[in-house]
Amino acid sequence: MKTLLLASVLFAGLFDSLAAVPVPPGPVPAPLPYHAFCRTMWLFASPCINVSTAVLKQIQAFNPVNKCILCHYRLVGITNNSVIANHTSADGLQAESLTFTFSSTVMAGGCRVTALSASLGFTNLFDGGLNYCNLYNILSASGLMSSPGFAEITNEWACLGYGEAPCHDV
Ligand SMILES: *[C@@H]1O[C@H](CO)[C@@H](O)[C@H](O)[C@H]1NC(C)=O
Ligand SMILES: *[C@@H]1O[C@H](CO)[C@@H](O)[C@H](O)[C@H]1NC(C)=O
Ligand SMILES: *[C@@H]1O[C@H](CO)[C@@H](O)[C@H](O)[C@H]1NC(C)=O
Repeated sequence: MKTLLLASVLFAGLFDSLAAVPVPPGPVPAPLPYHAFCRTMWLFASPCINVSTAVLKQIQAFNPVNKCILCHYRLVGITNNSVIANHTSADGLQAESLTFTFSSTVMAGGCRVTALSASLGFTNLFDGGLNYCNLYNILSASGLMSSPGFAEITNEWACLGYGEAPCHDV
């Protein structure tokens, strides 16, 4: 089962972004400017309409107008199969772009979500888990983590700070 999952992850292009790592011309300056990012995949046994509705509702609940601790998300737009938002730090100095893409799984009635958070400014390679927590906070607060069949697939290469990110639990 593990191997099968990994194969489908590879086919789904979860790790495509590795090809986008900038290659410096000539002698290597240190540190490299870099757009930090986290790409992760979530699986659910519920239909995509349920999952995308939960994500959308949580992004709206985390809008700055609601003045909560985690309220730094703004909805940018929705398409047939994706939700796009942004997140800004409390001091307003950092901003990240978030994209959630939903596709129905072959297994009846399930949904696969590819979630990406990417820093808009150039940052250090290590973002302290910022981009992972941007996604995790939506997942956790929406209750989707306890929805049937939930599983997350990612690793440190696809998602900076994965496994050590100090996210707020909500
Ligand atoms: C999906 O949402 C519909 C409408 O809210 C609900 O009736 C149904 O039980 C949900 N399905 C799952 C698997 O959560
Ligand atoms: C975030 O999205 C909102 C709504 O589209 C937009 O007004 C704002 O400028 C965006 N912020 C950044 C930093 O991109
Ligand atoms: C979105 O869905 C509508 C209705 O199913 C369809 O007419 C439209 O072509 C779709 N748009 C895209 C960009 O897939």
